[in-house]
Amino acid sequence: MSNPDVLPTDPSILVTGASGRLGGAVLDLLASTVPVGRLHALVRGADARARLGARGIDARIGDYDDAASLEAAFRGIDRLVFVSSPALDPAVRLPQHQAVLAAARAAGVGLVVYTSAFGAAHDPGHAGTEALLEAEFGAPAGTEPSSIVLRNGFYTEPFVQRAVADARSGAILSAAGAGVLATASVRDLAEAAARVVVAPPASKRMWELRGRGWTYPELAREIGAELGRAVELREVSPEDVGALGVLHALAARGVLAAESDDLGALLGREPRDVAAVVREELFRTPRVK
Ligand SMILES: NC(=O)c1ccc[n+]([C@@H]2O[C@H](COP(=O)([O-])OP(=O)(O)OC[C@H]3O[C@@H](n4cnc5c(N)ncnc54)[C@H](OP(=O)(O)O)[C@@H]3O)[C@@H](O)[C@H]2O)c1
Repeated sequence: MSNPDVLPTDPSILVTGASGRLGGAVLDLLASTVPVGRLHALVRGADARARLGARGIDARIGDYDDAASLEAAFRGIDRLVFVSSPALDPAVRLPQHQAVLAAARAAGVGLVVYTSAFGAAHDPGHAGTEALLEAEFGAPAGTEPSSIVLRNGFYTEPFVQRAVADARSGAILSAAGAGVLATASVRDLAEAAARVVVAPPASKRMWELRGRGWTYPELAREIGAELGRAVELREVSPEDVGALGVLHALAARGVLAAESDDLGALLGREPRDVAAVVREELFRTPRVK
C-alpha cells in the first residue's frame, strides 16, 4: 500500500472508464509515456480486460456499484484517473462516486484526478463528488496535491460529427443562432488528464477545461471550406435538432460561451479548435464530397 502523504517517483496509475471514449484516450496517451508495468485500467467486462491485456496493460475488473470490487482493483495503486460515471441521475452517480473515493482512500491512493464537468456547481452528482474529494483528499496549501478536479467542457466532436453528417446529406441544422460554444476535443481533455496525473501541477487544483468558442455559422463555413462548396445552415427548433437540441438552446442563451485558458495552460499549446476537429472528422470518415 502506498503512503498517501508522499507522491512516489515511479507511481502506479489506474484509469477508470478505460473502455470508454475519455478513459480509453487517457490510457492510450499514458501508454506512450509511462512504462506499461505501471499502467492499470478499471473495466467491467472480460472482453475489455482481454483487449487491454493483449497490449500488456493490467486491466482489473470493477464496478462503481460494487464497493468490494473497487477495493480489490485499487490495491497497490498510487494515482487514479477517475472518469466520472455516465449515470446522469445524481441519486445513482453520487453513491457510485462515494464508493470509488472510499475504495481509493482504503487502498491508500495518493492522488485522485477526477474528470468533472462544466457547470459542476449546478449538478449535485459532480458538486457532491467535488466536495467529497476536498474532504477526503484535500491537501494543505503548499503541499503536493492529492486531488485535482478537471471540469471538462462539452465535447466538440458530437457537434461536428452531426454537422458533417448533416452537410453531406443536406443542410446543417442548428438551434444555437449566433450563440458561442466553448467546447473541447476529447483528445485534448484526455491529454490534459494524462499530463496532470503524471506531473500534478501545484498551482491549483480546479481546472475549467474548455477552448476557444465557436458558432454554428463559423462551423458551417469551416465544413464548407473543407468540402469545397457552400453548405446551407438552417435554423430550426431544439426539438428538430434532436439529441443535441438542449445544448443548442443553452448556447443560444449564451450559457456555453465562457472560454477558459486552463486547457491550453495544461497542454502547453492552443487546444484543438473547431476547424481542427472538422478536419479530423472528415479525415476519419472520407467520402465523396
Ligand atoms: N463533456 C461532454 O461533452 C461529455 C459527453 C459525454 C459524456 N460525458 C461524461 O464524461 C464521462 C466519460 O464519458 P465518455 O465519453 O468516456 O463515456 P463513455 O464512452 O460512455 O464511457 C463510459 C465509461 O464508463 C464505464 N462505466 C459505466 N458505468 C460504470 C460502472 N457502473 N462502473 C464502472 N465503470 C462504468 C463504461 O464501461 P463499460 O464499457 O463497461 O460500459 C465506460 O468505460 C461520463 O461521466 C460522461 O457522462 C461528457
